[in-house]
Amino acid sequence: MGDNSPMIVEQNVPLQPHNTFGIVAKARTLVRIGGESDVQAVLAHPGLGAEARFVLGGGSNIVLTGDVKAVVLKVEVAGRRIVEDGPRATIVELGAGENWHEAVTWAVEQGLDGLENLALIPGTVGASPVQNIGAYGVELQDRFESLDAIDLVTGKVFTLDAAQCAFGYRDSVFKHSPARDSDFGLAGRAMILRVRLRLPKPWKPVLGYVDLQRKMTETGIAEPTARQIYDWVCAIRGAKLPDPRVIGNAGSFFKNPTVTPEQCQDIIAREPGIVHYPMPDGTMKLAAGWLIDACGWKGKSVGQAGVYDKQALVLVNRGGATGGEVVTLARAIQTSVYERFGIRLEPEPVVV
Ligand code: EPU
Repeated sequence: MGDNSPMIVEQNVPLQPHNTFGIVAKARTLVRIGGESDVQAVLAHPGLGAEARFVLGGGSNIVLTGDVKAVVLKVEVAGRRIVEDGPRATIVELGAGENWHEAVTWAVEQGLDGLENLALIPGTVGASPVQNIGAYGVELQDRFESLDAIDLVTGKVFTLDAAQCAFGYRDSVFKHSPARDSDFGLAGRAMILRVRLRLPKPWKPVLGYVDLQRKMTETGIAEPTARQIYDWVCAIRGAKLPDPRVIGNAGSFFKNPTVTPEQCQDIIAREPGIVHYPMPDGTMKLAAGWLIDACGWKGKSVGQAGVYDKQALVLVNRGGATGGEVVTLARAIQTSVYERFGIRLEPEPVVV
């Protein structure tokens, strides 16, 4: 696919392999996108051009509640290359359709250090800026240089820098829609084609996160290499997060909520064990997993949708769950956390 090859339009395509929750649903129409010319061909197509569109990456952050009627644009833009190797940083460019973890592994194997804390996050490169993926003290925005995207109305390709992406905690311009958020946002309006990452030189390890500190103590390694950190992160994630290839899931289902220091004191007075972290802006972040766990949800289910028994923040598909069951379970969790703590949990995945 890509330049000069004919557009392939598929009908009634099973989406179960294309969403990490493993929910059974179909795309009425699906077009594989290898590059900008494929998007332009869809826009110019007499039938498809006028229909609603839905951009599908690795399907790691969606809950499908039925068949998708909009034309599914499956992002398959490939490529991994070094575009600049300067004295202060190496810039790598990755196609949006590349698997994120395989790209991180490739980088580590090339000695391109800086992405190791983000190992084993499910999904594709194109999805990484959308929710500003983060783990173990590093967020995508800390390694971001720029991206190329295509306007799904005009077919024009444009480039955005970090400021234009408006990154926040699990948030970016790509999660906001102009209709909902007063003129701000590119949700449904653009498709990410390529992402460029900046890996600063000299490399500095990020080891502040408790789980990594524990690994350092256990192994006696005080100055780990990037490869070592990569292995540790894979081991930590493997121990408490379900592998989507085995148990369907979409990672953390809710964001960690932030509260004012006063609200936090109030909650601590009632619940001394609550896990909380001070943020640079003075607010307090609470561990949503702890809140859900405290409400007794670990291991519980609604139909075939369940709460993972090793990490209450992760909802799982125990086999044949529907999107409706996942949504019902998520709402029940939100209600009980609200009733006990007065805190509203906000979901991370998008319900489709
Ligand atoms: N906790 C419990 N019970 C639980 C789950 C967690 O008491 O069932 C407690 C833990 O003991 C710990 C605290 O809650 O003290 C935080 O848990 P954890 O270290 O597992 O991290 P998290 O806050 O639940 C976040 C990210 C993850 C990321 C990890 C590591 C969010 C929503 N989640 O999880 O990201 O991998 O930190 O950095 O920010 C994702 O977004 O999909 C994701 C997996």
